[in-house]
Amino acid sequence: MRTLCLENLLRLACLAAVAASANSAVLAQAETSKTLTIAAHEGTPTVDGDIDEIWKDVPEAEVVKVVKSETSMPEEELAKGKVKLLWDKDNLYALFQDAKLSASSSDDWAQDSIELFVDEMNERAGEYQADDAQYRVNYEGKISGAGLGYDPKNIKAVAKKIEGGYLVEMSVKLSHAKREAETKLGLDLQINDDPGTGSRGGISKWNHPENDSYQSTSNFGTLILEAAPKK
Ligand code: BGC
Repeated sequence: MRTLCLENLLRLACLAAVAASANSAVLAQAETSKTLTIAAHEGTPTVDGDIDEIWKDVPEAEVVKVVKSETSMPEEELAKGKVKLLWDKDNLYALFQDAKLSASSSDDWAQDSIELFVDEMNERAGEYQADDAQYRVNYEGKISGAGLGYDPKNIKAVAKKIEGGYLVEMSVKLSHAKREAETKLGLDLQINDDPGTGSRGGISKWNHPENDSYQSTSNFGTLILEAAPKK
């Protein structure tokens, strides 16, 4: 079990697996439902799909929690990814790096795509308010989204095929959150995987391993805006 965990480098999933193997279902549940926190550094990348130097030392959020209720494909084949975040006075920026490609479904959320959910005021009010939005970008760069705070004018995104899959670089306009260090926002991140069947074979998430983020902000993780690291 331990070797497998190291090989896969899926820290949270591994913690859960180790706990389960020790017959501790309660501990496993606690590990998978823990609310995560990620820091975004202050900085402005060019949103063009080329990975600027500014992304280099930014912490990575691992989108590796499997949403079991929505996943019928083998879990080891499910698209998982890593996401880095930056912010400036206008926008939140995300760089998703991921794998596997298919956009044959007519439902945007069933195509190979990434999603970013944000609760700018970190109120976790449940139902989406004016400061809450769901943004989605498929591997071909097609943008969609929903939520009271969603406006297609506020998102810019570029998707690019890379070896083994795709990356998405995006910016979403911030208009409610204070754009200053130490501000906390609600955030979750999602990757939808169409294994080539034309329908969604599974979902992986950063924080909450349920398919609930498009309807409720209650279980988002926490994003902390940080000053740019000193050189
Ligand atoms: C969910 C889908 C839902 C869609 C609505 C996605 O985040 O995973 O199940 O239909 O949002 O926009």
